[in-house]
Amino acid sequence: MKTHPLRSVLFVCLGNICRSPLAEGVFRSVLATEGKGQGVLIDSAGTNGYHTGEAPDERSILAAKQHGIDISGQRCRQLKAEDFADFDLILGMDRANVAAIEARRPAKATAKTGLFSEVALGEASQIPDPYYGTGADFERVYLMVLKASRGLSKLF
Ligand code: 4NP
Repeated sequence: MKTHPLRSVLFVCLGNICRSPLAEGVFRSVLATEGKGQGVLIDSAGTNGYHTGEAPDERSILAAKQHGIDISGQRCRQLKAEDFADFDLILGMDRANVAAIEARRPAKATAKTGLFSEVALGEASQIPDPYYGTGADFERVYLMVLKASRGLSKLF
């Protein structure tokens, strides 16, 4: 049951170059299409910092572009303690991401955390890491992220 609409969400994966940048871009697009994007904070981060400062993976940029979404301006950053106070919701793409988010949770954290598909759709499906995959894997991630984003928008 929806009580107060949420106002902010942080999407988290391992590297913040493949899945969570797509989730950030797609969710922003879904909210805008539904006329609910005004004043909503949407961002993404990685649990590791290996790619800090980099643009998203070219294959994620392409998958988004093929659906009319530009994520090329995003820059990779690592999950930080302040995120747990700055965001209503912090969502991991897979269970390892959720475990890594929980491991960093400060004592005074206010953010709700969980698995993207579970919070959005009530389905315990994970969005698999496409880093070592093909363009088809990135398209599959895009479709999963789109479906979950449409579910998540009901909470906003
Ligand atoms: P992502 O994919 O978590 O969807 O951004 C990955 C990208 C890079 C690495 C791991 C996962 N990496 O370790 O470099």
